[in-house]
Amino acid sequence: MESSAVQDDAGARDAGPRFPTGFRWGAATAAYQIEGAADEDGRGPSVWDTFARTPGKVLGGDTGDVAVDHYHRYPEDVALMRDLGLSSYRFSISWPRVQPSGAGAANERGLDFYRRLVDALLEAGVEPWPTLYHWDLPQPLEDAGGWPERETAYRFADYAGLVHEAIGDRVKHWTTVNEPWCAAFLGYASGDHAPGRLDPSGSLLAAHHLMLAHGLTVQSLRARRPDNLFGAAVNLYAVSPATDDPADVDAARRIDGLQNRLFLDPLLLGRYPEDVLADTARHGFEPDAADLAVINQPIDQLGINYYTRHTVAGTPGEAAQTASGPFAVHSPWVGSEHVRFVAAGRPTTGMGWEIDEGGLHEVLTRVHREYPAVPLYITENGAGYDETPDGDGTVHDAGRIAYIDAHLRACHAAIADGVPLAGYFTWSLLDNFEWAWGYSKRFGLVHVDYATQRRTPKDSARWYSDVIRRGGLPG
Ligand code: NOJ
Repeated sequence: MESSAVQDDAGARDAGPRFPTGFRWGAATAAYQIEGAADEDGRGPSVWDTFARTPGKVLGGDTGDVAVDHYHRYPEDVALMRDLGLSSYRFSISWPRVQPSGAGAANERGLDFYRRLVDALLEAGVEPWPTLYHWDLPQPLEDAGGWPERETAYRFADYAGLVHEAIGDRVKHWTTVNEPWCAAFLGYASGDHAPGRLDPSGSLLAAHHLMLAHGLTVQSLRARRPDNLFGAAVNLYAVSPATDDPADVDAARRIDGLQNRLFLDPLLLGRYPEDVLADTARHGFEPDAADLAVINQPIDQLGINYYTRHTVAGTPGEAAQTASGPFAVHSPWVGSEHVRFVAAGRPTTGMGWEIDEGGLHEVLTRVHREYPAVPLYITENGAGYDETPDGDGTVHDAGRIAYIDAHLRACHAAIADGVPLAGYFTWSLLDNFEWAWGYSKRFGLVHVDYATQRRTPKDSARWYSDVIRRGGLPG
């Protein structure tokens, strides 16, 4: 259902903020987190299969072997999306399903799944919005060196071509890589994510090659179909110093540099931030300047994943976040002598992440102010909790509703300030495998009973559906 079609008739009875006609209302997922069917139809192993099977890496020893069985249940899931009234659905394509060894011809049975999914979405009136890389690198490519190896970027562009060939006639919006910061730094520096390496120098090369993969892919896919629209999805944070002490201000500069500018500057300005290169010089990171021209392809859209604000200090003291899980363990190579993450005292979600919708407004206006104009999309935003259904079988997730409501108001305010924000995808459609947290954290609008795979929309699903139908928020 096109949201624009319903806005006019519902608008009169609602005084809350309304979004522009044509604004996209979506939800997001990723292949390893939902598909399951790990050994079916010729899929090969990914780094996440290997990592999840390594004792101690994922909470409870959980794996994505079955996940929420979306591979078999996608018709039901697409029906849920249609019922919610989503205009768009962001999902990712599993590289090891399409190219099990990471090279060579396509596995047609793997591609067939995505052909079926895209057809079902189009049939339901939901726009398919695929991401080509959401962290499931084929294991053979990791065995050959993984993202720190330049060759991996070329392998990726090759794989992307196979997918594009198969569904490029039915898909308009493409996201190349998802959250290269996570893939590079949680994967190769802190070891919290697959492949679990502790290699500071390698992680910087991984970041560079993920961006190179993006650039090569945009170049080659756009040459085939100039009418398609391309971009990447980056995880951006608002970053604040704990106090105005110069050491804290410098810590904020460092974290903003590594977290935000290390990716935004090459992608959108064609250069690395000098201060970040200086901060990381001891790791021997000397990116090839010629690559920057490839990385800096003009893009048609930028995806922003936003969850929280980081408050950081450079002054001695106790780090506040060490107990709150893998995402809190920032890349060790930042140097604890320079940076501590501190709690600023805001309420948190079940992930321990502080809720700060003002940070989303800040990120959106900052990107618009400091980088070339490009349509922006919130490609992820949402709240994870430990949740169990009530006696009536549903989840009364007032916290998630409040979180999304507040962040949508921040989006609306950014649009009013002139930011070209064109859509919002909440993370996530369904409860799913939350990486190193396994199934312990739930982000879905729709509850999944992992024993039966039964899907039950939460209160937030009904609330979001109303927002979509009305094209805006309650007054
Ligand atoms: C970031 C990732 O892209 C997604 O896979 C993850 O589940 C959510 N944010 C929540 O952590």
